[in-house]
Amino acid sequence: MTGPEKDFDWDSLTFSLTQTDVMYVATCNLGEAWDEGEIKPYGMLEIDPAAGVLNYGQGIFEGMKAQRTLQGRIALFRPEENARRFQRGAARLGMPPVPESMFIDAIEQVVAANSAWIPPSGRGALYVRPVLWGTGPIMGVAPAPSYTFCVYVTPVGPYFRGGLSCIDLLISDQFHRAAPGGSGEVKAIGNYAPGMMPSKNAKKSGYAEVIYLDAVHHEYIEEVGAANFFCIKDEVLYTPELTGTILPGITRDSIIEIARHRGYEVVETLVSSKFALAADESFCCGTAAVISPIGTITHGDSKSVFGDGGVGPITRELYNALIGIQTEIAADPFGWLHAVDEELPLNLC
Ligand code: PLP
Ligand code: COI
Repeated sequence: MTGPEKDFDWDSLTFSLTQTDVMYVATCNLGEAWDEGEIKPYGMLEIDPAAGVLNYGQGIFEGMKAQRTLQGRIALFRPEENARRFQRGAARLGMPPVPESMFIDAIEQVVAANSAWIPPSGRGALYVRPVLWGTGPIMGVAPAPSYTFCVYVTPVGPYFRGGLSCIDLLISDQFHRAAPGGSGEVKAIGNYAPGMMPSKNAKKSGYAEVIYLDAVHHEYIEEVGAANFFCIKDEVLYTPELTGTILPGITRDSIIEIARHRGYEVVETLVSSKFALAADESFCCGTAAVISPIGTITHGDSKSVFGDGGVGPITRELYNALIGIQTEIAADPFGWLHAVDEELPLNLC
């Protein structure tokens, strides 16, 4: 285990893959218990071409960040919530759930073993990517006979260029991310490829991402690519309610709690594009996106500029509060931080 070069340029980090030293891999057969799992060098996996995940998209993923805090500790943010969402996703896609204790243990081991890759406090984070795939071969459309649970990590910088600077978004009238009864509320890998072309086209036209509307009325805001949406009107926060087509973001939930704790009213409701365009502030949020302020939203021929186009005061307050907790600059009144012991004994192969 080597870690990065001594003069690694942390400030050049973007949201992209830098290969780290080790990863975690566990396997199981359908209907049987998971094996012990092991830490091994980061590298290629062998996979059957008839694997369920390769042919029918039987796979889910998670995303969370480990931070080097101001106190020098390593802290994960609410990983138990990711564990639970991972279990719900596994159930939806007919895969064996990973027990919460195994999920947390695997993440702690990978983070501890790659601790040299955690950026210094305030200069990025170690993004943790757990994945669960149907890796056994299957010809009929049915659950694969065997599964692989893998966790790898990579140091990352901002998801949208420029940190806390405003992004321009485009509402799509043509594409939808999810439909009622589908898999929008879990992190199914198959939810993401269909968004690539709309997102790429929007970027070509100068937008950072696409805002998706609901697939029934084509009227209510659902999500911003891979992030949840908030807008603020007269100091009240509004965010799309969880109707089953929206990913229940852990950042979204945390912002709702933080805002209420600070005395703001938060309304989870159907948020029409018309209402959002008339808001005072708006932002999107997620593990990767953190809180990304939205400067403008374009819908057809109309373009809304929020405030004076800069970061709104409540957006900034919530950003500082969230980052403050995650990096231990501020107290953690909710008990959300999960410390990782750097000296953790590893299950090495
Ligand atoms: N929405 C989608 C579709 C996502 O993929 C993500 C990222 O995980 C989010 C929202 C934000 O969720 P979280 O805050 O749990 O990262
Ligand atoms: C995250 O915020 O963790 C995500 O999963 C977004 C992503 C697909 C990059």
